Amino acid sequence: MRVPPNAQVTVRSPAKINLGLSVGPPRPDGFHPLATVYQAVALYDDVTATLRDDSAITVEVVGDFAVDVPADDSNLAVRAARMLQVEFDVEEGVDLTIRKTIPVAGGMAGGSTDAAATLVACNRLWGLGLSQSELERIAAELGSDVPFCLVGHTALGRGRGEQVTEVMSRGTFHWVFAIADGGLSTPAVYKELDRLRPLRRVESPEVRPELLSALLSGQSAALAVALSNDMQAAALSLRPELAATLQFGLDQGALAAMISGSGPTCLFLSTDSRRAVDLAVALAESGLCRMVRQAEGPVPGARVLPAPINR
Ligand code: C5P
Repeated sequence: MRVPPNAQVTVRSPAKINLGLSVGPPRPDGFHPLATVYQAVALYDDVTATLRDDSAITVEVVGDFAVDVPADDSNLAVRAARMLQVEFDVEEGVDLTIRKTIPVAGGMAGGSTDAAATLVACNRLWGLGLSQSELERIAAELGSDVPFCLVGHTALGRGRGEQVTEVMSRGTFHWVFAIADGGLSTPAVYKELDRLRPLRRVESPEVRPELLSALLSGQSAALAVALSNDMQAAALSLRPELAATLQFGLDQGALAAMISGSGPTCLFLSTDSRRAVDLAVALAESGLCRMVRQAEGPVPGARVLPAPINR
């Protein structure tokens, strides 16, 4: 049922990391079956959607990584808006402004989260009244990580990653991210993974039980030994210099160091926020990466921000 449209809506949507990422052999459609545990972390892109009288959809990208993002119809946010517009016969258009702080092609679902934010924003802007589960269905068509970006928190991902169910997680974890120069193409990393391992020996993907119990315990030390990422070997094969970044973080006292998703972002788990700051400073001074960010997780998925108060 349609509800009254808004003139402008801003949605904040988080980056994701994979605490466990188990990848099976490629399916006939080329995608890889996954068993993954996602966590949303407090590193956000904001998408502002402004109503247009005509049916055009435009996009402008601002912020840290703006130059790395296509501002044309290949932008996943534009595709998200177009999908809603076509499926629900919307006559109005939208001007989208994406404020980026999540690295582009960094293995943190930056593009997927912009698409998730756009679905939430346009649902409100155009008064479509779609439920969360309807949005998740559309999100799955846009990309494997998009449904999780709607849901947020900590969740299990099956299928190609698009079948999401929340998992219990206690407390807050403290993460540091070393953002590398340049991105890695997700399909290229999957291809490298297939090249590196003989297909017949690949097991079906599974989530490690010790990961789920570490999340329930809320203990960083338990989580540190339960983290895993099948994509790491492939990302390191394509970008061997990342091994030095991971090792540097461990030498500086990180509880764990791992490639984030398909990379090249490196993630580090710290015991508390004070140690996370120390690690972030050391990494920033090391010259090993382009930028360092610190964020807690878990946090919710894409959410409408309150409208600014006009004085
Ligand atoms: O779903 P998404 O568009 O994010 O995926 C980008 C690309 O990553 C896919 O075209 C595919 O090559 C690869 N991929 C995969 N298996 C998955 C998810 C993504 O092979 N489970």
